[in-house]
Amino acid sequence: MKQPVRVAVTGAAGNISYAMLFRIASGEMLGKDQPVILQLLEITPALDALKGVVMELEDCAFPLLAGVVQTDDANVAFKDADYALLVGARPRGPGMERKDLLEANAAIFSAQGKALNEVANRDVKVLVVGNPANTNALIAQRNAPDLDPRNFTAMTRLDHNRGLAQLAEETNSTVNDIKKMIIWGNHSSTQYPDLTECTVNGKPALDQVDRDWYENSYIPSVQKRGAAIIEARGASSAASAANAAIAHMRTWALGSDENDWVSMGVYSQGEYGIAEGLIYSYPCTCANGDWKIVEGLDVSSDFSQEKMKATEQELAEERDAVEHLLP
Ligand code: NAI
Repeated sequence: MKQPVRVAVTGAAGNISYAMLFRIASGEMLGKDQPVILQLLEITPALDALKGVVMELEDCAFPLLAGVVQTDDANVAFKDADYALLVGARPRGPGMERKDLLEANAAIFSAQGKALNEVANRDVKVLVVGNPANTNALIAQRNAPDLDPRNFTAMTRLDHNRGLAQLAEETNSTVNDIKKMIIWGNHSSTQYPDLTECTVNGKPALDQVDRDWYENSYIPSVQKRGAAIIEARGASSAASAANAAIAHMRTWALGSDENDWVSMGVYSQGEYGIAEGLIYSYPCTCANGDWKIVEGLDVSSDFSQEKMKATEQELAEERDAVEHLLP
């Protein structure tokens, strides 16, 4: 049996975590031969609820669960962490403007970035799920100057999966038949779900659907799926978000499929003309525990350029709104 790895999860008593922790402990994220120690962070008022979740984890008697830490101290939760899933975030309250939300989260994610910088494993793989995910990841990254900026990623895998499912339905295929779809940009309604490179059963996806459906139905529907779930369920997506977080980490740690890629919010070094330093969703392949942006794709059409720039613009505005709080 391998040595256990340490997996830190924030917002551990929340809805997404309730759909995620049990699957991590059962080996779905890192493999059925990889024991894990869960290091769970919550705010002080939620520690009782967290205790209940931990009791349930114990009651599952997972063979791979080598330990559980419960704490309201980020320095304890992130100590020697090999993986960190930052799920807890400040939700938008009544009367809160977008700027207030960004600032409230900047406080949380700068403190967590500093703690990761201090105590985590130098190779820690960080996934930010809590919204606004890309900018929260940027804030954590900027507060962790001793860690490689490539260690910080934001989740757009749920958007990617939504894109796969909706295309499968339209083309009467299954998600297994679909390769190379892309989510560019922000995990928000400005994201660009791009089918230019995508294939269904080995043939171009855009030859198999109506252009009008693609532009006026598919793209907005993937962009707004989160809001549609909230309207239907009265609560934001939890199980599908948990599933995407597990898939993101699994792909990063264990590698992507041959002849395919995934979408990940990653540190831009100017690829495809996007401003350096933003956490922008790109098509990525993963191998040997590292991610790589797919290079050489043709994004020169006016349609793609406009959409990629619009979502970049939004990310730049989010960054500028919190710039005064960044080191
Ligand atoms: P939730 O409200 O059920 O749980 C959040 C938990 O985080 C709460 O238990 C809260 O006490 C905790 N928390 C708040 N501040 C914290 C801090 N500073 N440190 C540690 N814990 C803290 O929310 P849910 O449904 O689990 O969603 C979590 C986040 O994920 C939200 O921001 C949501 O918008 C986001 N989300 C992101 C998605 C994506 O695709 N990137 C998809 C769906 C949700």
